Amino acid sequence: MNKESKIFVAGSTGMVGSAIVRNLIKNGFTHIIGTYHSKKPQYADGVSYSQLNLLNQNDVQVFFNLEKPDYVFDAAAKVGGIVANNTYRAQFLYENLQIQNNIIHNAYLTGVKKMLFLGSSCIYPKNCPQPIKEDYLLTDVLEYTNEPYAIAKIAGLKMCENYNLQYGTNYIAAMPTNLYGPNDNYDLQTSHVLPALIRKFHEAKVNDAPNVTIWGTGSPLREFMHVDDLAAACVYLMETYDGNKFVNIGWGKDITIKDLALLIKEIVGFTGELVLDTSKPDGTARKLLDVSLLTSLGFTPSISLKDGIANAYDDFLTKFP
Ligand SMILES: NC(=O)c1ccc[n+]([C@@H]2O[C@H](COP(=O)([O-])OP(=O)(O)OC[C@H]3O[C@@H](n4cnc5c(N)ncnc54)[C@H](OP(=O)(O)O)[C@@H]3O)[C@@H](O)[C@H]2O)c1
Repeated sequence: MNKESKIFVAGSTGMVGSAIVRNLIKNGFTHIIGTYHSKKPQYADGVSYSQLNLLNQNDVQVFFNLEKPDYVFDAAAKVGGIVANNTYRAQFLYENLQIQNNIIHNAYLTGVKKMLFLGSSCIYPKNCPQPIKEDYLLTDVLEYTNEPYAIAKIAGLKMCENYNLQYGTNYIAAMPTNLYGPNDNYDLQTSHVLPALIRKFHEAKVNDAPNVTIWGTGSPLREFMHVDDLAAACVYLMETYDGNKFVNIGWGKDITIKDLALLIKEIVGFTGELVLDTSKPDGTARKLLDVSLLTSLGFTPSISLKDGIANAYDDFLTKFP
């Protein structure tokens, strides 16, 4: 990409898309276009936004024909935690397939030079060995609760691979671990574990509650990456990587849910107790990505979990003072 390239960030109002926009602006890219759907954009400086429903095939075609972007980051998706994934199963499958089909196919029809598609670590089988290598894709059954979302994401990365093979396009795909940071979703019905814990500890502090309860033994291990590290990795891959193999993006280290909760408790400043409700299920024991391919390509994340959560909490406080 050169600094004047026309770069379309799909999903630019979301946590990942807005982080990619921030990174591009910081790195001097001057021609960024974004779209919004239900939410008005917060990061409008240096970006031109138009309203677009990416589910609508005709509208997406008109948008690509009009704008003819050089590069595309596809960070638009229907996203949520376990409950949302399991409750809105049909929507997670339909909307994610539809959004990515519309973007990928119109990128091809209008001659986009390069595209990066964002998937997720939930594409991997439920019981695969740890840490999870890219090669483990499609080697066993998926976790049923998020199977619709995972199947859509697998279809997306396979679209990139097969458009490259049949049409000679240059589409790459990145599979990030659990992300957190500015613009995260703090709705307890649909959020992921880390933002949910930030909200729970904050509300407990504000309400002077004696304790905060989390489900399970607290022993499952999970990996988390600040979204600014993810955005830096995406822009780095867009500029340096042309392979047909998708790339895991993660921090490379994991933490128990109990230690994560204790860290958030400390950062938020909640002085009550952490209670573990061991009558509730734990979920998968460990989920850690093998990031040796990303490392070999020359990228290493730099934001520690402690600094990253402090940054996310600052952002949370601007929205829920
Ligand atoms: N969050 C994570 O922990 C995580 C982890 C791994 C991978 N990822 C991947 O990263 C990508 C972005 O995730 P995120 O966390 O940034 O999600 P997010 O904050 O919910 O953002 C999703 C974006 O997609 C847009 N969008 C959804 N439906 C749309 C539609 N019909 N038309 C136009 N825009 C639409 C949303 O716009 P509106 O809000 O206006 O609808 C929003 O800008 C996804 O592909 C996800 O799989 C996320």
